[in-house]
Amino acid sequence: MIYLDHSSTSFPKAPGVGDAIKTTLEKHGVNIGRGSYEEAFAVEAEIADTRQRLVSFFGGDDPRQVVFTPSVTYSINIFLSGFLRPGDHVIVSGMEHNAVMRPVTLLSRTRDVQFSVVPANTRGEVSPDDIKKAILPATKAVVMLHASNVTGTLLPAAEIGQLCRDRGICFALDAAQSAGSIPIDIAAMNVDFLAFTGHKGLLGPQGIGGFIATRALSSEMQPLILGGTGSQSNQFEQPEFMPDKFESGTPNIPGIIGLRAALLYLEKVGINNLYRREMALTQLFLDGLKDIPGVVPLGMPSTEGRTAVVSINVPEKDNSLVAYELERQGAVKTRVGLHCAPIAHKSLGTFPEGTIRFSFGATNTEDEISTALETLAKIVSE
Ligand code: ALA
Repeated sequence: MIYLDHSSTSFPKAPGVGDAIKTTLEKHGVNIGRGSYEEAFAVEAEIADTRQRLVSFFGGDDPRQVVFTPSVTYSINIFLSGFLRPGDHVIVSGMEHNAVMRPVTLLSRTRDVQFSVVPANTRGEVSPDDIKKAILPATKAVVMLHASNVTGTLLPAAEIGQLCRDRGICFALDAAQSAGSIPIDIAAMNVDFLAFTGHKGLLGPQGIGGFIATRALSSEMQPLILGGTGSQSNQFEQPEFMPDKFESGTPNIPGIIGLRAALLYLEKVGINNLYRREMALTQLFLDGLKDIPGVVPLGMPSTEGRTAVVSINVPEKDNSLVAYELERQGAVKTRVGLHCAPIAHKSLGTFPEGTIRFSFGATNTEDEISTALETLAKIVSE
């Protein structure tokens, strides 16, 4: 198959991920934070090492501030529900995924939390000036994605982080589409809350992600899930210290160990090298699209300001049928529709029909891009 759906989940995973998970499950899959025996301490050390690698990878300084969750969606829900109080106001961008839009909508109905959507233009860009204009006295946070899952457009995270820091507003960044693809430095970018997932650009397994919060923020937030942590077990109150405050129940140990293997690989090859490769493939694809009449690419016009994601619209055809034919005729796997981001499609002018999304990984080849383009050209001309 020609797998061009890396924004959904990267495939194949980094070398070593599968073996690490298999070894954990078959050789030493014991629990952590509960038993006082050698094997438990050994697994605990690997988990601690993963936290350390993650915090270094993202420019933080305290591995205890790394909390494991199943995904970015869980992390964002924990943030929104744990931080916002009745009467608070939150700003989101017009490119958000439903991982943000659905929780803020529910909070506006049930907890008297108001939210404003700062519009994006038809290329998916969001202006820091517009964010500034949307700030109200009650604004407690700006929550936005770093890169759009629909167009790959990069949002100006560092500028908005600085703006938030100057105004004393919390800045929460959804790195679902950027972590592992482009460098993130939470200290330099003034990010108070970074939500990440392991299974996209980080090239790890599904079901493991997390967040990194500043110490000030994590002491202010309430946990969403409470329970056994293996610490302070004599108390009915949830521990206040990190990461136990937000990590109840047995964690996804094979997932964390798999993510650790992926991080070791990324450290070895360097994410800038992978990014260069992905952008060369994106350039090839964008160039090829220019020769196919009847196809409208969305988002940024070149490889500037984007990740390796290209959405297209075929106005004269049904996008779903085009995606179906891409698979049937060329085994080209894409994602068609609204990509769980209807508000982004409203900004782009592609709601409700959506787009056909091609998203590339460093393991794709030039031949695969050529086949995808040739198949698309044939389908569109039929
Ligand atoms: N939100 C992910 C995507 O864009 C799953 O496909």
